Amino acid sequence: MKTNSHIVWIVLAGLCIGASVVFVWPSLKDNTKNATELAAAKPINYKASRVLNQPIQPISMPSKLDERKVALGEKLFHDNRLSSSSSVSCASCHVLKLGGADQSASSVGVNGLQGELNSPTVFNVALNISQFWDGRAETLAGQIEGPIHNPVEMGSSWPDIIQKLQSSKEYEALFNKLYEEGITVESIKESITAFEQSLVTLNSPFDRYLLGDEDAISENAKLGYEKFKEYGCVACHQGSNVGGNLYQKLGIMGDYFADRGTGIRPSDLGRYNVTGLEEDKFVFKVPSLRLASLTAPYFHDGSAKTLRQAVQVMIKYQLGRMASKRDEDLIIEFLESLVGEYKGQRLEK
Ligand code: HEC
Ligand code: HEC
Repeated sequence: MKTNSHIVWIVLAGLCIGASVVFVWPSLKDNTKNATELAAAKPINYKASRVLNQPIQPISMPSKLDERKVALGEKLFHDNRLSSSSSVSCASCHVLKLGGADQSASSVGVNGLQGELNSPTVFNVALNISQFWDGRAETLAGQIEGPIHNPVEMGSSWPDIIQKLQSSKEYEALFNKLYEEGITVESIKESITAFEQSLVTLNSPFDRYLLGDEDAISENAKLGYEKFKEYGCVACHQGSNVGGNLYQKLGIMGDYFADRGTGIRPSDLGRYNVTGLEEDKFVFKVPSLRLASLTAPYFHDGSAKTLRQAVQVMIKYQLGRMASKRDEDLIIEFLESLVGEYKGQRLEK
């Protein structure tokens, strides 16, 4: 059974990650200095660390990031010229100040056109097994092709983008400094990818708690973590991104789509659109919950307006259970403690 192998997987992964945190974390800490501007990490008391054997692990910075590429990628990410109408940038739908998403059920792209899907956060995406709700892009570089060409997102083409960027002296100089070949599809994608790899939310209260700081989170958040484990949320939302590493069906214990009552749209079929397998109908990449408390509305269809509604849907349709309001409150308080810092500042609503 899938669930059993998950549990074995979680335990094994927990042990491996736990061990690597103890042995590798100190060396990773050094590399963070070379990466982007980061929060000065609090000294960690490894002895008190409760990180071993936990289904959720602290986030660490990827080791080698070229800061100049990160900076160029950041500029491109915010540049409207990547869209056909020069009016939409990646940041239009992934607003870093709004948890890397856009607060609407489905995003608006070029010429005011609306897509079907809710925009996920771009924070911590490098930790996901794949990109998009249905996981159809295996890499971050591959993902970029999606919005660039999607007629309801940026509706553009590479020749068009390259021409626009080449007409900028500033871009020409920046690219020529970093890439022998100058402005190309590959160099554009590589720098945006470097920027995305730097979008890591470090030092969350929950991570500090895991690493031994008893006072980093409230008693309610600690109880909420226990509930999160007891109800079985960790079977799907786990690892350092609290999700992003498995595919699961939406509606395991009940027919979510029938109850939603708005019919089935092509995008509701999820992974089926990628694999064509019957068993992949309504299967999605389990999303990260790291910034869930900041990125309402929820789910691929943006159908849950509040975090409480999303938690209720999960308890009912993924776990076949009911929860008291108190338990929902505790889980929500735990989810809030997962929010970390970017450029040294805790992200907030
Ligand atoms: C018009 C709004 C819009 C624009 C512009 C846009 N995105 Fe997105 N982004 C979305 C939506 C909606 C999804 C989910 C689509 C899907 O799953 O099929 C998404 C998904 C993603 C993901 C996958 C995240 C995950 O967890 O699976 C990444 C990464 C991403 N976008 C980065 C970018 C980058 C980089 C750009 C600019 C080149 C960009 N986006 C432009 C709306 C947008
Ligand atoms: C069997 C796997 C599974 C279990 C168990 C599970 N989830 Fe989920 N969760 C998912 C999947 C899959 C999605 C994405 C569904 C979609 O968008 O269509 C999701 C989405 C979410 C979201 C919305 C995230 C976003 O950005 O849109 C929240 C919040 C959430 N889950 C919380 C929980 C909580 C809390 C629990 C425990 C009470 C839980 N989940 C249990 C698989 C699971």
